[in-house]
Amino acid sequence: MATLTSTIAVERIKKSRIDEVDFNNLEFGKYISDHMLVVDYDNGQWGNPSIVPFGEMRMTPAILSLHYGQAVFEGMKAFKMKNGDINIFRPHKHLSRFNKSLDRMCMPTISEEMWLSSLQALIETDQQWIPDGEGSSLYIRPLMFATESRLGVKVSDQYKFVILTCPVGPYQAKPYRLKVEDHYVRTAEGGTGFAKCAGNYGGAFYPTQIARQEGFDQILWTDHKEHRYIDEVGMMNVMFVLNGNLVTPQLSTAILDGVTRDSILTLAKEIPTFKVEERRIALDEIEQGFIKGTLTEAFGAGTAAVVAPIAVINIRGKDYQIPVAGPTSFQQQVKKKLHNLRMGLEPDQYRWNFIV
Ligand code: COI
Repeated sequence: MATLTSTIAVERIKKSRIDEVDFNNLEFGKYISDHMLVVDYDNGQWGNPSIVPFGEMRMTPAILSLHYGQAVFEGMKAFKMKNGDINIFRPHKHLSRFNKSLDRMCMPTISEEMWLSSLQALIETDQQWIPDGEGSSLYIRPLMFATESRLGVKVSDQYKFVILTCPVGPYQAKPYRLKVEDHYVRTAEGGTGFAKCAGNYGGAFYPTQIARQEGFDQILWTDHKEHRYIDEVGMMNVMFVLNGNLVTPQLSTAILDGVTRDSILTLAKEIPTFKVEERRIALDEIEQGFIKGTLTEAFGAGTAAVVAPIAVINIRGKDYQIPVAGPTSFQQQVKKKLHNLRMGLEPDQYRWNFIV
């Protein structure tokens, strides 16, 4: 149980919107919970966080984030455990990534105390919004953006830190058909790929739109220099089972330090047949894996989807099919382990669960 004594002021909504939510059909991000946490940064320091009804905010169109892109977010989840406790999953790891992203974008960081007390107070306030269906959770979206109103090109002196939440159901998208990107890049070594800044996502929309027009679901991003090595898939880390080992690109400035990625790599060590390799993965190696039959699984790993199976990778115009992942597949086994740990059905030996 968390022991933070929260003194965060709460202005409650007059009439909850929860009755509008179809909890049996939770489209990702459609229903934002009743309240949000807001805190402003000015004169070199953070003010006091407060919880207010979710709604519009007053600001001018000159705020610097809209022009020069100082905007960073996180994506994490809270679960209603089997014993009724509320569990925020790995908030410390998410804070560490958030602060690295903020540093990269010259934005002020957040203290552990403010992070945990804000999350705890907001989740407690909107706890009826946490769905308890199998595979459901409350998605938590912390974000920070520059709010100084001026057009001069500069690092902002003012910011808003906001936390929103929304109930989400189990991920149900059909397995992906992937285009290997050999022209556009999501990021480059030395760029902002490891940071969760808004521009990384906006910049990926155009190539993704082209891929969709060509009949693909998502992009398999490759390195910016030669398009020979694999970086990520869509908005997620990518993992393969190759020669019986779990293989994923090693972290770099071009790759997001995914919390689900890290959780899966840790849990993989508990599944005896799977060794973990974090290294560069050449596209040629994946193609050879298909030809020799040694590539048996491919999937995306991210907070929103958890595990997103890949059905087809199109390499140089040829479709390579990946077998459907059954219950004994690595991805299904690890997903179950993660689920059990987060729901309190298995001991939390890594101390990842933060009970509100
Ligand atoms: C996640 O999987 O958490 C992501 O970052 C995707 C998000 C933009 C919905």
